[in-house]
Amino acid sequence: MFIRQRWYVAALAAELSDRPIGRTILGEHVAMYRNHAGAVVALRDTCPHRGYPLSLGRVVGEHLVCGYHGFTFDAGGSCVSVPGQDRIPSRLHVRTYPLVELGAWAFIWMGAGEPDYARLPDAPWLEASEERAVIAGVAAIDANFGLLVDNLLDLSHETFLHSGSIGTPEVAETPIEVEVDEAARRVEVYRHMTGVVCPPFYANTTGLEGLVDRWQDIEYHPPAFYQLNSRLAPTGRPPLPDGSDDHAFHMKIFYGLTPATERTVWDFWALSRDFAVEDRTVDDFLAKMQAGVVQEDVDALTVLQARLDEGNETTEVSIKIDRGGLAARRILDDMAREELAASS
Ligand code: FES
Ligand SMILES: [Fe+2]
Repeated sequence: MFIRQRWYVAALAAELSDRPIGRTILGEHVAMYRNHAGAVVALRDTCPHRGYPLSLGRVVGEHLVCGYHGFTFDAGGSCVSVPGQDRIPSRLHVRTYPLVELGAWAFIWMGAGEPDYARLPDAPWLEASEERAVIAGVAAIDANFGLLVDNLLDLSHETFLHSGSIGTPEVAETPIEVEVDEAARRVEVYRHMTGVVCPPFYANTTGLEGLVDRWQDIEYHPPAFYQLNSRLAPTGRPPLPDGSDDHAFHMKIFYGLTPATERTVWDFWALSRDFAVEDRTVDDFLAKMQAGVVQEDVDALTVLQARLDEGNETTEVSIKIDRGGLAARRILDDMAREELAASS
């Protein structure tokens, strides 16, 4: 079952235009577009007339016109015109979903009842500004949501799966600390590497030379929102006692984990950095590197899913590095149980 009473990333803000897109989210077909007033709209991607995908229609002003017989819908999902007749049957209504743009991403509420806006992530770094540059992308993975949770909560895999970009031997060698806040439903995983080689991903973008201190601090807000706070600084130069840290380079690496179906998942990502903010060549370099990293994860998870699909008994022997992932699973189970209890 899907956890529904939460916000999920549904689209990159850049994907939303007057050309509608269709995407499967939590097993439902969703159409999304930006109307001419600039508002973003999400609605069921099925025309109530004959079921044609509304994402194959076109945006005219504030409305979406079905690409099959031209029935026209407003942003609230009501049919406002039907070619060839004046009377509009009231059943010509499409379900809409609350859709909220937060910087580089748009979040959707697929749950029942009123959306809980307090549960939107507090993530100002998703928004580009004079101090921050943000790039973003999305990949479809032929693997289930749980495999992506496991992958992101244990970054020791960087050493082996992403050795050409972000993985260095020290990632896997450095122990982690895990903090779980059951009440706030948050898992944090810290890995602080000291006096280590700077991997190409950061060396080529920060200009740092020699040994660095590299911190990877994960905050996972189950089910859908993940933030990796990455800090790079010349070794031996921690933040000052007053908390200022201007001599360091910071990047926030966001992931939006959005189930498409029970066995496929959307892997939204965004990189937000406070250095080389104006430098478009750094954007291009990071986008290319990140696309490579994401593809390596896609390939690995696809292989794992194929093994799961064989249906043979799987083994799973967990060690210390799995504590974050196991805590995440516990919280996800609790959330699913709660929703089940609330709906029965
Ligand atoms: S299927 Fe959409 S108007 Fe007929
Ligand atoms: Fe990875």
